[in-house]
Amino acid sequence: MAKTYSIAIDGPAGAGKSTIAKRLARELGYYYVDTGAIYRTVAYFLDLLGVSPKDVDGVERYIDELTIDIYYDEDGLQHMIMNGMDVTNEIRTQDISQKASLVSAHVCVREMLLDMQRELARDNNVIMDGRDIGSVVLPKADVKIFLTASAEVRAQRRTDEMLAKGQKANFQQTLKDIQQRDYQDTHRPIAPLKMCRDSVKVDSSDMDIEQVIAEIKAIVGKKITV
Ligand code: DC
Repeated sequence: MAKTYSIAIDGPAGAGKSTIAKRLARELGYYYVDTGAIYRTVAYFLDLLGVSPKDVDGVERYIDELTIDIYYDEDGLQHMIMNGMDVTNEIRTQDISQKASLVSAHVCVREMLLDMQRELARDNNVIMDGRDIGSVVLPKADVKIFLTASAEVRAQRRTDEMLAKGQKANFQQTLKDIQQRDYQDTHRPIAPLKMCRDSVKVDSSDMDIEQVIAEIKAIVGKKITV
């Protein structure tokens, strides 16, 4: 079987990982794997059942009843299928963001999702984004990037994005949500968000999207002949 390539992009919420990874995946002809969407699907499933994301016994009791399938449409959009139902849009709320962060701290959840993520990378060239891709999921990834920005810049970008979509948004509340998620994602005992020693850090606080893409393409180009 031909070698497949993998690019890991980790970083905190709102750093622009998905925007960058999607663009790059399209240009390189790789699959873009959004691993946050998989954790969001778990959170959404438990939420429908009324199980608190902090309730480890409840999570353990119901997790086996969840089947997750992923498929990519012709535009490369990753669809999340929860027990046969497409929940791609439903998992994108602020409430589910917080619950996904809490639910992702449980061992049973991380174990369940690990093989699924590795299989996707075994069979395809992938750009995978998340929190623990370089450190746990794909420790041998060909390229590892840690994409970050200050919490204020991330909150401002999120606020602008929501306003542009015609949604209500409040900068202070968004900043609080981002800081809370940063804390949870970096302080959990299993697979916390952290920069690996062999990651290249890109701080996008003072960069626009085109500059970030150019920088990441240059990093990728040094490691993978594209
Ligand atoms: O990338 P996102 O904002 O959609 O992720 C939602 C939550 O899922 C995030 O706050 C933590 C969790 N997550 C994780 O623990 N590990 C990953 N590889 C991806 C996401």
